[in-house]
Amino acid sequence: ARAWLKTNQVGGMGISQLCMNSVVYAVNQQLPGPTVEVSEGDTLVVHVVNASPYPISIHWHGIFQLQSGWADGANMITQCPIQPFAKFTYVFSVTGQEGTLWWHAHASMLRATIYGALIIKPRSGYPFPPPHAEIPILLGEWWNRNVDDVENDGLLTGLGPAMSDAFTINGSPGDQAPCGGAGMFQVEVESGKTYLLRIINAAVNAELFFRVAGHAFTVVAADASYINPHPTDVIVVAPGQTVDALMDAAAAPGRYYMAARAFESKTVPAPPPFDTTTATAVLRYKGVPDYDSSAPAAMPALPPYTDVVTAARFYWSLIGLVRPGDPVIPRTVDYSLVVAFGVEQAPCAPDQTRCQGFSVLASMNRHSFRFPEKVSLLEALFRGVPNVYSEDFPGWPAAPATTKATSVRKVNFNDVVEVVLQNEGYSRALGTENHPIHLHGFNFFVLAQGLGRFDPRMRSTYNLENPQVRNTVAVPAGGWAVIRFTANNPGMWFMHCHLDAHLPAGLAMVFEVLNGPAPNLLPPPPADYPKCH
Ligand code: C2O
Repeated sequence: ARAWLKTNQVGGMGISQLCMNSVVYAVNQQLPGPTVEVSEGDTLVVHVVNASPYPISIHWHGIFQLQSGWADGANMITQCPIQPFAKFTYVFSVTGQEGTLWWHAHASMLRATIYGALIIKPRSGYPFPPPHAEIPILLGEWWNRNVDDVENDGLLTGLGPAMSDAFTINGSPGDQAPCGGAGMFQVEVESGKTYLLRIINAAVNAELFFRVAGHAFTVVAADASYINPHPTDVIVVAPGQTVDALMDAAAAPGRYYMAARAFESKTVPAPPPFDTTTATAVLRYKGVPDYDSSAPAAMPALPPYTDVVTAARFYWSLIGLVRPGDPVIPRTVDYSLVVAFGVEQAPCAPDQTRCQGFSVLASMNRHSFRFPEKVSLLEALFRGVPNVYSEDFPGWPAAPATTKATSVRKVNFNDVVEVVLQNEGYSRALGTENHPIHLHGFNFFVLAQGLGRFDPRMRSTYNLENPQVRNTVAVPAGGWAVIRFTANNPGMWFMHCHLDAHLPAGLAMVFEVLNGPAPNLLPPPPADYPKCH
């Protein structure tokens, strides 16, 4: 399969949103960007032309990148960015995975407008009755201001980016937002048919609840891994995650809203007002007149903004669908690690010129990740460039003071790695919040999840039969998750919070996976690999 992705020219794409005319940088003049559709086993060749004024890289979120780590697209981890008016061709094979993934810019906050679906069709059918049609639902977030300015302001004040102005469904906030009616996503369904909703949380900084009035779902996959069919009337999805759900068009013919609303357990600061947190779209039965504001649709009741119970019930009740030939869950662990993370207040840094009192610092095991500046970690590893990173990512408990460091954790090829992800509150004033933790390059088994501190006695509760398989796990405020994966892919693999605000703040670390015996080697970088400046 082959795809061309071209960010638009300087000047951007004009768009009318929330009663304002804005200019955004987007791919192929589309928001969301184009859907890239492949079949399992394909080699995907994507030509990325950066015609924006910003350095950019594109990450293929959830793709294993087996022996193609150069194409992972994580800015300064696996590549230097594609400079303005330069190009790079990403080539990788999509083998051994199928379902809904996505792609997004992985440099600064540009992923707010540079994202799209990446759909991998199975070679031999779905493990559920084939749906009549598929409906992609990309949940996003919108700022009235240029997102690069929003991010820079957040860095100068040290407080992170300002709250978004709206959430979106397939690019539009919907008609509950000011002037949101015109671009609202609408989809027609036929009575009695079953649809596959491919739901992607591309929002920048928020987990989301999703419902369709009058309709229920059966979840059949998450993060492009099959799930034992799970009935529910609400879907909860964290940034980075995807959920595939079957939905029967079994309601009385009519018009029904689908709606998404932010979810956050954090109580400091106060929740945002309702109207900036809810996005809508409309589902219309065939034969029913088009939606317009004189003929309203039924609105679903969404859980409240802080409904941790509904979220935990959803996240924790999914179990994997195990099929013959699926990777087995490794029983013995070669390498185990506790990674505790959180956000704290730190003194203003000299470059935070508008900082008033304190800035926000995030870390894993008290190492606040600092991006390298001159060369990507993968290139440094491959060419043996010294003094780019250190291999001293600490264990837990760590030293009490947080330090900024470009530190990695080295593991051997094919090691089975188990990580206890512990969500710690480092600051009373900032409180604890949920952190969706994403691992590049691997899927992991989620063996157990809970609230409070992880206790080693919890090992007896691990699901070693049919755990859910994910690339992003939502670790609740003051809670934990245990993940296990096999490090079968040489390279530098980023693990970070998928709330974008926490990435420049340092909530990240990197696994360095050494080359295995031939042929498990990382090949040299492609000829057009972006040059560093
Ligand atoms: Cu979808 Cu490193 O991210």
